[in-house]
Amino acid sequence: MKKFFIQTFGCQMNVYDGQRIAAMLESHGWQATDKIPDADLIILNTCAVREKATNKVFSALGRVRRAKRPNAMFGIVGCVAREAGATAFRRIPELNFVLGPQSYHKLPEILNNPDARLLNIDLGGLEKFDELPQMEKSPAVAYIPIQEGCNHCCTYCIVPYTRGRELSRPFSDVIRDCEHAARTGAIEICFLGQNVNGYKYTAPNGTVYRLSHLIREAAQLPEIQRIRFTSSYPTEMTDDLIDLFKSEEKLLPFLNLPIQSGSPDVLTRMNRPYSLDLYIDIVDKLKAARPDIQISSDFIVGFPGETDSDFNQTMDIVRRVRYINSYSFKYSPRPHTAAALMKDQIPESVKAQRLAALDAFLNDIQREFNESCIGKTMTCLCEGADKTGNHLVYRTPYMQQCIVPAHDDAPVLADIRITAANKASLRGELVK
Ligand code: 5AD
Ligand code: SF4
Repeated sequence: MKKFFIQTFGCQMNVYDGQRIAAMLESHGWQATDKIPDADLIILNTCAVREKATNKVFSALGRVRRAKRPNAMFGIVGCVAREAGATAFRRIPELNFVLGPQSYHKLPEILNNPDARLLNIDLGGLEKFDELPQMEKSPAVAYIPIQEGCNHCCTYCIVPYTRGRELSRPFSDVIRDCEHAARTGAIEICFLGQNVNGYKYTAPNGTVYRLSHLIREAAQLPEIQRIRFTSSYPTEMTDDLIDLFKSEEKLLPFLNLPIQSGSPDVLTRMNRPYSLDLYIDIVDKLKAARPDIQISSDFIVGFPGETDSDFNQTMDIVRRVRYINSYSFKYSPRPHTAAALMKDQIPESVKAQRLAALDAFLNDIQREFNESCIGKTMTCLCEGADKTGNHLVYRTPYMQQCIVPAHDDAPVLADIRITAANKASLRGELVK
């Protein structure tokens, strides 16, 4: 039996794509291996969001080239494939395929031809969702893409180039995927999209479906106990969606709502046209709908022209919202983006200083929140055993990791009393 090796970098959308590619290869009779020298086919499923991510892919390609069997086929799929296009073949002449995020279903065309060269970085289609086989068994958390691409055109972001303009999948296709996931083992559904709350599908009869419709429909499935979605754009947090946090118990009390910067000037240059007042108003409405809700954010520090005062405004918004579980990044100039051409690029040393200060502050708040959970009982979802096998790893409703002593008949969804906490994780015990 022929074997394939796949390594995935980047976001949840890529993780999903990687699972679909694996399911497709298995349906063609291939078997997965985690050893490059054993593989007849090697795929790197790639991320281009920051320069570091792209560099990582090219150094991994160098390693693959040295470790692979001479006649094994190899190639890249995903965002770096789209970013690099034909130049990837110039950098690594032995590559067999370079397939963008919306073209990987073309892979079978060349599977048995080691001399093949296939370049397809087209955008604009959702065929991959229809053409690829479903996974036979769903993991407990089913990631279900509902839209792909982004129309917002933030000036720092390569995603509109790599994943294209926004396309929303038909409502009935998404619900069919939810039903399939529920039937085959899912307990939690996480709806995915680069601009997930911008989901908008108009059915042939004219009915318009939004994310709130999808959530309400998925919540009807008895197997599904928890629902969440990522990643959201602030101004698309419409009232129908906010109200669901009040009425729909299965919706987790946790939302990633990236603000990126707390400076109105920087937000303008990022082409993120919302005011801080509007953003805070949305957070307050969410808290009114669901008092126990917690918010996380993504931040970029060192965007071109960011002054100390701009940066301090980011610290102020962190103080105001008290974000948990956030991600922060140094600004990284990307090809095909407007910000890469802006004057006043910030020196690396200043970016590093600001990132360290922001991270320290976010970590303090995270630790404080984690400690406030001690003594509480939360319903958590099991992700499996840790490396030692002595513990089980659960996720709380706030996506905190919670470590519990291994237990033979521990339920997948369990009430856990939190007994200890640090910055990164919680410890707990099963409530009988
Ligand atoms: N530089 C740094 N961070 C970036 N992100 C997106 N583009 C860049 C960039 N050029 C971050 C944003 C986004 C997250 C997925 O990655 O914070 O929300
Ligand atoms: Fe990476 Fe962004 Fe593409 Fe996801 S969408 S793979 S994070 S560049």
